[in-house]
Amino acid sequence: MAVHCLQHPLVQHKLTLLRSVETPPKLFRELLREVSALLAYEATRALRTTTVTVQTPLAPARGEVLAERLGLVPILRAGLGMVDGVWSVVPTAEVWHIGLYRDDRTLRPVAYYNKLPDQPTVDRCLVLDPMLATGGSAVAAVDILKRWGVRQIAFLGLIAAPEGLQRLTTTHPEVEVYLAAIDERLNERGFIVPGLGDAGDRLFGTG
Ligand code: PRP
Repeated sequence: MAVHCLQHPLVQHKLTLLRSVETPPKLFRELLREVSALLAYEATRALRTTTVTVQTPLAPARGEVLAERLGLVPILRAGLGMVDGVWSVVPTAEVWHIGLYRDDRTLRPVAYYNKLPDQPTVDRCLVLDPMLATGGSAVAAVDILKRWGVRQIAFLGLIAAPEGLQRLTTTHPEVEVYLAAIDERLNERGFIVPGLGDAGDRLFGTG
């Protein structure tokens, strides 16, 4: 298990704008898409490739092409805001949605959408959700993917609370985690502080 917190200046710049309460939904969507592409660039470093030969206008050239089937798994709703950015660097990835919402009172995830077929169609999954708060939703999503039969799983998010990160890494130690920040704490309502508020509401303009 490894936690990668990206210190790249572009990631940190965009994260700071995402946090700002002044950032409206249109800009929030654009920034989230851009950060997601950068997270995906890091998270796909270990993808297997196979050697092929292509013909250039001048001569044959040996090269590498991806040898793995990749699945993107956005957790509804906020994970949807990350799909286009990841697709911009891996356009061949399949997208499998998982619907989970967090019960306001218990803070436990409630599953409401899952149309995964019986057999896995991908070799590796990237779970997408900007916020890792208590970690309940991320753990539940990884549980679902493991039951589906996928062995290689990574989690891509913007901000984690220490509590949630601890929970994910303890429950699923083999899952690689890619983040832009690890924040101070959770408040009494289970929100990450300082965080950026409710990512789903800011993305969809429903706050
Ligand atoms: C938020 C967020 C995560 C979850 C994180 O979604 O996008 O999915 O909460 O919390 P956890 O780590 O404590 O499980 P929310 O449940 O608000 O649903 P929404 O995206 O549909 O608004």
